[in-house]
Amino acid sequence: MPELSDERPIGIFDSGVGGLTVMKEVMRYLPGENIIYFGDTARIPYGVRSAETVERYSFENASFLVSKGIKALVVACNTSSAISLDLLRREFPIPVIGVVEPGARAAVAKAGSKKVAVIGTETTINSRAYERAIKAIDQSVEVTGFACPLFVPLIEEGWLDGEIVNLTARKYLSPISPDRTGVIVLGCTHYPMISNVIAKITGMPLIDSAVETAREVRSILADKGLFRHEGNTPEMQFYVTDFPEKFVITGEKFLKHPIERISKVRLAG
Ligand code: DGL
Repeated sequence: MPELSDERPIGIFDSGVGGLTVMKEVMRYLPGENIIYFGDTARIPYGVRSAETVERYSFENASFLVSKGIKALVVACNTSSAISLDLLRREFPIPVIGVVEPGARAAVAKAGSKKVAVIGTETTINSRAYERAIKAIDQSVEVTGFACPLFVPLIEEGWLDGEIVNLTARKYLSPISPDRTGVIVLGCTHYPMISNVIAKITGMPLIDSAVETAREVRSILADKGLFRHEGNTPEMQFYVTDFPEKFVITGEKFLKHPIERISKVRLAG
């Protein structure tokens, strides 16, 4: 008997536009799937907020997507993944995939010297979620975290190269001791947008959590028989909590795909 096609969309949320780097990879690895993307543009940034607040926001975002009938939830935001994945997995009866575990697995697999540097927002680094995830796989890996809080506003501004980004990156990345057999985990949705700058300054291999997460989503859908059969063009729907016009302009740069169906929503908090 042919397998049934599961038409329900995959839900992806982030604090804003950055999670589109994850959506781009999900579209590449799962080109037949319908996707609903939710960007909490009214409350970004999450990376400077307390764990309690990030957890509350994440729960509200996930509840919104679950109310739309999604078959799996991707928490594209590193800060939300670092803080609230356990809660979301307890509360919602669908697969919930974060970006930390896939990134951690890839880092352990690729770090020949067993040295991993993680860069991310302050809340992600302070949570030590990457360190825990990496050590759970291999206790002997040395993990160091570096918060790079100015990267997000620079990238949101569209400054992806040039003097200011280079100077900022040099300042943040200079404490990372160069080790060509170690790796750097890009532990923030936005950082793949400046991966060239980071790679040039450090000379180290980079782990892009977005790619690893998309692979994980594909393998979970396969295991659970949740694929949508490719055929009809998949539908992409976007929801934001503020400034849809700005989201479209920056978002199309992140996604490298037109953003057409977008609505502004207000969450029942
Ligand atoms: N999406 C956030 C992350 O990946 C970065 C932006 C923010 O601070 O909200 O950690």
